[in-house]
Amino acid sequence: MARVVLGMLGLGTVGTGVVELLARHRHLTLKKVAVKSLDKDRSAMPNCPLTTDVDEIINDAEIEVLVEVMGGENPTVGYLERAIKKRKHIVTANKEVLAKHGPRLFALAKEHGVAIFFEASVAGGVPLLSTIHKGLEANEIESIMGILNGTTNFILSNMETGKSYADALKEAQDLGFAEDDPTADVDGFDVAYKLSVLSALGFGYFVRPDTIYKEGIRNITEEDMALAKEFGYRIKLLGTAAKGGSNGNQGFDVRVHPTLVPVTHPLASVSGANNGILVRGHAVGQLTLIGPGAGKLPTASAVVGDLMNLAGALKLPDFASYFQPTIEASPASAAPPDHWKCPFYLRLVVKDTPGVIGKLGTIFGAHNISIATIIQRGAEGREATVVILTHDVLGKDMNSALAELKKCDFLSSLGNAIRIFRSA
Ligand SMILES: NC(=O)c1ccc[n+]([C@@H]2O[C@H](COP(=O)([O-])OP(=O)(O)OC[C@H]3O[C@@H](n4cnc5c(N)ncnc54)[C@H](OP(=O)(O)O)[C@@H]3O)[C@@H](O)[C@H]2O)c1
Repeated sequence: MARVVLGMLGLGTVGTGVVELLARHRHLTLKKVAVKSLDKDRSAMPNCPLTTDVDEIINDAEIEVLVEVMGGENPTVGYLERAIKKRKHIVTANKEVLAKHGPRLFALAKEHGVAIFFEASVAGGVPLLSTIHKGLEANEIESIMGILNGTTNFILSNMETGKSYADALKEAQDLGFAEDDPTADVDGFDVAYKLSVLSALGFGYFVRPDTIYKEGIRNITEEDMALAKEFGYRIKLLGTAAKGGSNGNQGFDVRVHPTLVPVTHPLASVSGANNGILVRGHAVGQLTLIGPGAGKLPTASAVVGDLMNLAGALKLPDFASYFQPTIEASPASAAPPDHWKCPFYLRLVVKDTPGVIGKLGTIFGAHNISIATIIQRGAEGREATVVILTHDVLGKDMNSALAELKKCDFLSSLGNAIRIFRSA
């Protein structure tokens, strides 16, 4: 195979994995790696030529491909733009920069006749993007949904043993599965970036991450986990991207929120730091992909897979346009959450007075909400927990019912309201 000269930005978790895997593919020659600090112990990577000057890579005409595994939005986006203008192909693992700047970066790449490869940016080692882009090319993609964040899946799986959210998060941090600041993972930002990238591949539009509905896992309690189990569900943080809206919406249904998944569903058995994704195409029906969504070697496997694809095709005429998905130059917005329809799980703490159940039924009925199951638990002292499972409800009807409930004297606290799985 022809020799291809690479430059890389970043030598952290993913970058060290890339160097390790490249040792088996000598035709991919890593000429230089940019890092933030030269003072770190890199004795495990003795032959890696390092620099802190990114320009040494961007301005090196011999380097044909820039591998970007440093992450973040800035200064990364500027480096990518400059590398593209120097006609370097890009292989990136960075969902945030793609979600926020994808339309511009792809337009720029097209203008300069180079390609952007990004398999590692979503679902780590699971070959999800190539499956959608090439494997399902004959299909109209209808929906992509699933568990796209290993950190939150690890935390939720751990909470099933009875641990609190705080203890499960601490354990994830101690084991290196969660950052010291876990916001991007636990509040749904990471999944939103991935959904934006998936929408670009599946539907031809990056969806602006700031328009994507995000509800994280901070409010899930041990009690919710136990009650979900009792009713035959497991709680998962699901990301959904569906075309046209599963309920007749205009635009795209793109959202991140905790979801009660029936224990019999394939996504319920995706445990620990794994990812699990359902892709629905009009011809193929539904596919399920499950595997490691992060980690040094699984993510490096996706990066080096991209590099090998790229190297194999680099000399073909019009190679860049063959590999590039067709993506609109302007991003789309996600549809507002009002019109999604799904069943809900509600946990309410109420004053244990006569007539409360009847009043709840009246309020829900007035907002078009039909109750499938209602139970009352532990009338300890003056309070009781009421758990309600509803039939399908529009988001706007649930919001207006909850707003009315919050004004009621008998409600001590609204414990939680979590959506129940519904196929997209
Ligand atoms: N970790 C995963 O499992 C995983 C999975 C899928 C995708 N990704 C994506 O892969 C990318 C890298 O993640 P990671 O976990 O490998 O990150 P990481 O461990 O934090 O490594 C980041 C690397 O980038 C370097 N760097 C940071 N700022 C820089 C700058 N201004 N100039 C030059 N170098 C700079 C750092 O240098 P120093 O070493 O000197 O600090 C470090 O080597 C991110 O986009 C992430 O979202 C990661």
